[in-house]
Amino acid sequence: MKPVIEVASLRKSFRDREGLSRAVLQDLDLTVDAGEFLCILGPSGCGKSTLLNVLAGLDSVYEGRASVNGGRVGYLFQEPRLLPWLTAEGNLDFALSSCRVPTARREELKSRYLAMTGLSDFRDYYPHQISGGMAQRLALVRALCVEPGVLLMDEPFSGLDEITARRIRSDLLSIWEETRKTIVFVTHNAYEACFLADRILVMSGGVFRHEMRVPVARPRSYEDPAIFQCSRDVIKAFGNEIDREPERTVLPAAASALVDDLDRHTVARMNN
Ligand SMILES: Nc1ncnc2c1ncn2[C@@H]1O[C@H](COP(=O)(O)OP(=O)(O)O)[C@@H](O)[C@H]1O
Ligand SMILES: [Mg+2]
Repeated sequence: MKPVIEVASLRKSFRDREGLSRAVLQDLDLTVDAGEFLCILGPSGCGKSTLLNVLAGLDSVYEGRASVNGGRVGYLFQEPRLLPWLTAEGNLDFALSSCRVPTARREELKSRYLAMTGLSDFRDYYPHQISGGMAQRLALVRALCVEPGVLLMDEPFSGLDEITARRIRSDLLSIWEETRKTIVFVTHNAYEACFLADRILVMSGGVFRHEMRVPVARPRSYEDPAIFQCSRDVIKAFGNEIDREPERTVLPAAASALVDDLDRHTVARMNN
């Protein structure tokens, strides 16, 4: 079966304040299969959100190829980004109508996902009347309601207290096990990645440095020692890779135009 996400030789640069072109993503290749739960784990600033923005179609200025074939893309951010002047249900209706989901399907979708996240009794509440955890749950409902084929999640639980985050992670796994959406979940939390993922890609300095399958059967329990062991392995691999991380490619603006014509080994030599 054709992969849902296909990324090949993806390169993305930003200009910094001095006008230098800074490579943030460097020749990334990635395929994600239908129904897979992939976690991308990496430190702050390594390019995780930049990658998700490309996959979501929010950023179209890049080199290489990035395609998402699984229909609509749902995107969940670190903060819920709800519209404060609308109720919980109003926020869902807004998303459903923006995505032109047929009116006849809307009630069924809202009821289904509100029930799955324990929010059925909160339809009339405004965002300021619910807790941070409930708001993030509602944002998850909003992302799921529009029936995405692919769900992109950018550190969605890192702003929550640990108890709340654990509950929502468990809810997310139940929802995923039932709906089998393809999920790309970005995090800097190794334990979270091992609890959730089928496969983990460790990223630093704009490249994937290590890949591992999570050898833990489902359904998973948060207290399973196998998850602890897995997170130790990931952190170890991560540490080794960070220790040998090369300097990120930085070129003056004028020179950066030439880079495309040079192969990346030449660029690496220029920086050494
Ligand atoms: N719009 C932008 N303009 C300039 N630099 C940016 C922009 N967006 C991100 N960056 C830089 O790209 C790098 C990667 O950012 P990001 O993808 O947000 O990292 P992460 O999500 O892994 O923390 C950072 O060094 C960041 O400062
Ligand atoms: Mg980020």
